Amino acid sequence: MLRRLHADQPDSFAFTPANLAWAEGQITKYPDGRQASAVIPLLWRAQEQESWLSKPAIELIADMLGMAYIRVLEVASFYFMFQLQPVGTVAHIQICGTTSCMICGAEDLVAICKEKIANKPHEVSADGRFSWEEVECLGSCTNAPMAQIGKDYYEDLTADGFATLLDDLAAGKVPTPGPQNGRYSSEPLSGLTTLQDYESGKAKYNASVQLATDLGDTVKRIQGDEVPLLTPWVGKNGVVAGRAAEAPTPPAPATPKPAAKQAEEAKKAAASKAVAATVAEVEPEVLKAARNGKPDDLKLLKGVGPKLEQTLNELGFFHFDQVAGWTEAQVAWVDARLTFKGRIERDGWIEQAKTLAAADET
Ligand code: FES
Repeated sequence: MLRRLHADQPDSFAFTPANLAWAEGQITKYPDGRQASAVIPLLWRAQEQESWLSKPAIELIADMLGMAYIRVLEVASFYFMFQLQPVGTVAHIQICGTTSCMICGAEDLVAICKEKIANKPHEVSADGRFSWEEVECLGSCTNAPMAQIGKDYYEDLTADGFATLLDDLAAGKVPTPGPQNGRYSSEPLSGLTTLQDYESGKAKYNASVQLATDLGDTVKRIQGDEVPLLTPWVGKNGVVAGRAAEAPTPPAPATPKPAAKQAEEAKKAAASKAVAATVAEVEPEVLKAARNGKPDDLKLLKGVGPKLEQTLNELGFFHFDQVAGWTEAQVAWVDARLTFKGRIERDGWIEQAKTLAAADET
C-alpha cells in the first residue's frame, strides 16, 4: 500500500501543554546528539492527540529533534501504526487479514466494516466517527479472527458479535476487549490440557522460574562442557524441571524414558569426569602414521566427526585396535586432550572399537 501524506493538511500543529512537557521529558532520556531516538514516542503522542499524523505534526517533531523532515516522514510512513490520514473520531478499526484470521473469518469482518463504516479502507464513515483498514498479523493468531481497536485487541470474533461490537461503540458503550467467546486467553476451547498444575494452584512457579530454580545455578557462566547444556530440561541430580516435588519413578531398564536416559548419561559423564580427575594419566602407545597408510574410519565411533577424527589422528590414533586397547589410565590421558571430556566412556568407544576391530565394521 502506498503510504504518503494526506492531500488535505491542517495549517499547523502544536502539542498541548501537557503533551509538550511529556515530549520534552522523553527527549531528555537520550544523550546529546541522540535525540532522534525519541522520534517514535513523539510521533505516537502526536497521533494520540490528533488521532492521525499531519505534515505540520511531522515537521514540528523533526524540528524538536533536530532531524530533517524527510527522516521523520520515513519513520511515520514506514510503520503502519501511524495513520497518515484522518481516521474516525470514535474509533479506527484494524482488522487482521493474515492467514489464521483470514481462514477463520476475517473476510466476514471486512464485509461488516464495508457495510457499517465505509466501502473502502481508510475512508471515514459518513458521520465521521469510524474508519477501518486491513492489517497484517497482529500476533494474536490463536484467537483468530481478531481486530485491534484503539489500544485493545478484540479476539475470537464472529461476524454477528463484531457487528454488535461496532453498534455498541456507535452507541457510546465501552465493550470489553479480549476474547469474545468466553476464553480467558489463548487456552484450548475445550479447557486446559497443559499447565493444569498451575491452574489448580499446585505449581509454585511458572515454567521458566521452575526451570531456573531446578537448575539452581543460573548465574554460572557456560563453560561448554556441561551435559545439561544439551538437555536443559534436566536439572542437577538428573531432576527433570517441573517434577521436583514428585517421587521419582525408576524407569524400566529396557525402555528408559528419554529424560531419564539423559539424566543417566549426565551421571555417567560426571562419573567419567571424576575418574579423569582421580586416575593418573598414562600415555597409550601412539603411531606416527596409519599402518600401511590405511587408517580405519574412526568416524564410525559414536560422536566422532571429521574434526574429532583429525584430533585423534594428530594424537597418534588411526586404528580401532588402538582404541580398543586403552586402559582406564590411558582413557584419562586421551580424555585430557579432547575438548569434550568424558565422551570416550559416555559414548562407549572402547566397546565399539573392539567390535569394529574384530569385524572391521559395525
Ligand atoms: S493471523 Fe491474525 S493475528 Fe496473526
